[in-house]
Order: sequence, then structure tokens, then C-alpha cells
Amino acid sequence: MAARVGLMTRLPLCAQGRGRFLDCLHRHLSSPGTAILKREELPGGSVEPGLQEKPNNKTFSEVQKERREQAQRSILISCPKEVPEKKLLKHLCRHGEITNHFFFESFGIHAVIEFSRKESIASLQDATLIPRGETEFPIPFKSRFFHLNLKNPSNQTSDGTLVQCSNQSSPLNADLIQRLCNAESVEGQINTLMRTLQITEENIRLRYLTCSLIEDIAAAYFPSCTVKPFGSSVNSFGKLGCDLDMFLDLDDIGKNSAAKTAGPFLMEYQVKNVPSERWATQKILAVIGECLDNFGPGCVSVQKILHARCPLVRFSHQGSGFQCDLTANNRIAMKSSELLYIYGTLDSRVRALVFSVRCWARQHGLTSSIPGAWLTNFSLTIMVIFFLQKRCPSVLPSLDYLKNLADARDKCVIEGNDCTVVSNLNRIKPSENTETLDILLCQFFEYFGNFSFNKNSINIRKGKEQNKPDSSPIHIQNPFEPALNVSRNVNESQLERFVHLARESAWILQEDKGQSSKSSHHPWGLAALLQPFVLNKSKAKKPGRGPTSEAVRKLLESIKADSTKHSAATREKRSISTQS
Ligand code: GTP
Ligand code: MG
Repeated sequence: MAARVGLMTRLPLCAQGRGRFLDCLHRHLSSPGTAILKREELPGGSVEPGLQEKPNNKTFSEVQKERREQAQRSILISCPKEVPEKKLLKHLCRHGEITNHFFFESFGIHAVIEFSRKESIASLQDATLIPRGETEFPIPFKSRFFHLNLKNPSNQTSDGTLVQCSNQSSPLNADLIQRLCNAESVEGQINTLMRTLQITEENIRLRYLTCSLIEDIAAAYFPSCTVKPFGSSVNSFGKLGCDLDMFLDLDDIGKNSAAKTAGPFLMEYQVKNVPSERWATQKILAVIGECLDNFGPGCVSVQKILHARCPLVRFSHQGSGFQCDLTANNRIAMKSSELLYIYGTLDSRVRALVFSVRCWARQHGLTSSIPGAWLTNFSLTIMVIFFLQKRCPSVLPSLDYLKNLADARDKCVIEGNDCTVVSNLNRIKPSENTETLDILLCQFFEYFGNFSFNKNSINIRKGKEQNKPDSSPIHIQNPFEPALNVSRNVNESQLERFVHLARESAWILQEDKGQSSKSSHHPWGLAALLQPFVLNKSKAKKPGRGPTSEAVRKLLESIKADSTKHSAATREKRSISTQS
């Protein structure tokens, strides 16, 4: 579901402060959260756009560990509209050094403040009041989500350093389409799209912080549990506004059990037992859901969806503005996120292509935030990975290749499935493929416009199509649960729409390739693909049911030849109109 956050605030930096801050930032930028700001160094917004960490040589778990630790030293504050930034930072500095901070807007102004030490938060909590309502009674829950009041608003607004909001939710709108039209190439368009829509450094921090706040609540029942983000928040394909998938991990509680079994006795906890793991998951989520609903600051619209295939608690987190899905016992999804992260980090073209295809699919209603018979972003991502494995030379290696490079520490078996994959990305040989994104995007649509969905299954483990094991319209083998089809929900008509749109898109990109000068007034290339287009069913036959790829190519060419004379008129009709 689309989250309502995204109006991130960039604070104006005075030239001098900004330079001083950047020096400081560059000195310390080797890892997130290391730019230490002491009292005399307090500038404006602390995270510079474009200075996102390059986690290329960090493993997925190293990134997670670092981010989680950073989140544990952070707090969220709901602020009044006219908050004096410098005064606030100076005030908070009494509790310890501030490493980083930023403001954003989501149902009002909010600040994320990162201290250099966790102890500062305890000190701040000691100095914080539980509000006393006149008509309502507050539940005295001491969290890391605060509310700031100005004691004397008229005095505090006069120092000229109030935060200014800039909208960074970056929806796909006419302005963005215009910017795409101004690009030099499809590759330029793809990069503009990605830069505008990808989740920002601040947004990532906020996602980890939100998980950390939920972890504090869950820890009231299960001390030492962890709540970790997964899915597009961490797999490198996150788009501003995407949901926040959270994984309540109770397995860490039993870690280091080897040390605990030393000596002549075996001590075990006295525990309650239930008939199955699923039952346990449902019980745990039921109680955490209740707790979030009753006591969780900022947790609203809590729904317990416990009878789904993967039981979950869905809620909105006011403050961060995220739509959250909390699951437990979902290690395979976490591992799948790691796999996507690895593929997304291996070659810059992967993210670019996944981003474009996800946006394209969303614009044409091929994916939706509501569950149904359509493709999911996860399935689409696997399709892009598969396509890149099939290029010659391949852009991406097979999952079996990644498994063979793994060492003993990478060994991972979940519910009997071998989920081993190399974590050290430096061991993976870079691709020799040099194709441009212009070519790859067009070829992606051509490839799946002609894929034999009726015969073949998409299998990224082998990097090759396999015979389809069942009669589902489309079969995409789950990378870590080979018996499952990740697109089992997709029906024939959704697949047909996908194929028709892919063929139409390949055709549009081919048509634009021949143009010597690009128009900045009419959508072309990727901009044209993001416009609604009328499907001409005669152009596309049923997926995988008849013509071979070669025959379809000929058909497309003949259609193109027929319609060349009409193409100018067709392009005129594609007006700039988008949905956000
Ligand atoms: P968004 O649509 O941007 O939220 O993309 P997402 O990648 O976060 O997808 P979603 O929220 O639907 O699912 C979260 C994660 O769960 C995915 O990234 C996968 O790791 C995993 N996942 C989703 N669907 C499936 C599935 O059918 N099978 C398996 N094994 N994992 C899935
Ligand atoms: Mg998600």
C-alpha cells in the first residue's frame, strides 16, 4: 500500500555552515552515521542529497547491522510547524552528541535525531514528561517517539532559522514526464526516473528507525527479539512511498546456545507449547497486534490478518507515515530480499531496469497495492533478473553460481530449503556484457512479449527456462522454495495484458530508436511507455500460443511498416497525462 510519507524536509543551509558541515561529513563518510556533530558544529540538514552510501563491498547483513545500530541511537520527534531548528538541536545536545538529523513532513513536521550514544536517549527520556490530558487519560508508555511543544511560540519563531519543507515524495507526474522528455537517451530517462523516485538516504533511515520503535514494543513481551525491514525497503529496489515490510525475528533469542549447554546439565526454559509453528506465529502476532493497537505510540488502523498464507499485522505508523506489514517466521522472504539486494548491487543496470519495469507495470495497472490476480513487484523483479541472465554474454549469474561461490559461513537452510548464497560480492566476477540500457529495456519487452509462457517456467536458479510443471498461466519458480510458483495468483487475462503491453512497448521503443532528434514536447522512449496506451489486440496474439519469436518479430515489423505513415499522428495523440 502506498505510504503517506515522503514529504521529506531539506533544511536550508547557510553557505558557511554548509561548507563546514560538508568538510566534516567528508572526513567521516566511510560509513553511515559517522559524521559527528559537536555543539559548535551544528548546521542544518545533515544528510546531503546524492551522498548515499555505496554498500557495494558490504554484505547484506553488515548493512543491516550497521543501519539497525544507527536506528537504536535515534529518536523521532513530532514538532510544531514553526520549530526553531538550531535551538532544538542545542537543547537536545544537552543529552549528548548528535551524529545526524533531518526533518520531514508527514501529518506535520517531524525530526529524526541520531545521537552518537544510546545513553543520550535514556537521559532525554528522564527529562521528558508524560502529558496530562484534561478529558483523556494517557497510557504512560515511554517510547522513542516524542512530541515537542514550544513554551513560548511567539519568541521562538523570530530567529530566522525555521525549517522549510520541500516536497520530496516525487510522484510520477507531468513534471517528471517532461523531464524525461528532455533527456538525451532512454538511458538518461531511466536514470532520471530512478534518481527521482528511489527511496532516499533519509527515507531508509526512517524505515530502520520505525522498525526499531516497533521492536521496543515487541521486546516488552519477547526481550532480545529483533524487528528487521525486508522487501523493497532493503533490497535496493525501493521506491518512495513503498510499504514497510517488517520481520519479527524471535530466533535470535536462542542464539549462543552452544555456550549455554556447557557443563553436566541442560537447562531449558519452561515454555508453553502449541500444535504447530504456524499456530505459534499466529498467537505471537495476535498479541503483538493487540499491543500495537492499545499501547503503540503512532500505530493506528491495526489489522490482524492471521489466517493469510503468511500471517501478518498491518498498520499505519503515524509519524513516519509508513504502511507497515509485520510478519514473523518469514525467514525465506528475508533471504529473498538478500538475494535481490545481491543482484541489485552487482551491476548498476539491474536497478535501473527493475525500476523502469516496476514503474511501467504500475502505470498500466499490471501491479497493484491490492492483492489480486496480477503480477507482483517481486515476480517482475525475478523476470528482469532472468532476462539479464539470458543475455549473451549474461549480465547476471545464475543462483546456482552464487551458491557455488559461497563459503561455510554462508550456508543457510530454511525449512529444509537450501538458501545458501555467497555474501561476499567481491567474489563474483563482473559481467562482460556492455549493452546499454536503451537496448536492454527494449529487449526486455521483446523477450517477454514472445516468451513461451505456455511451455516454459522462469528459473533464476538455473538461469534457464525449464519445462512448466503445471498448467498455471505463468510459472516463475520461487528461488528458495523450488516447489512454489511466485506468480501462481496470476490469471490468463492478466498475463495476456502483460504480453500485449510488452509487445506494444517494444514497438514504441523501436519506433523511437529511428528518430534522430528527440522531442521535448511529445513523450518518447520511457516517457511514452509511462503514458496510457490503447491496446490494439490484433497486434498481439495469445501469449506463447502460436508464433515463434521470429514470426512475431516479422509481424511487428509489418505492422510497423503499415503504420509508419500514421506514426506522426499517433505520437501527437500521446499527451502528457499521468497518474501519480
Ligand atoms: P513493493 O511492492 O514495493 O512493496 O515490493 P516488495 O519487494 O517489498 O514486495 P512485497 O511487499 O509484496 O513483499 C515483500 C518481500 O516478500 C519481497 O521482496 C520478497 O522478498 C517476499 N515475497 C513477496 N512475494 C513473495 C512470494 O510470492 N514468495 C516468496 N517466497 N517471497 C515473496
Ligand atoms: Mg514491500
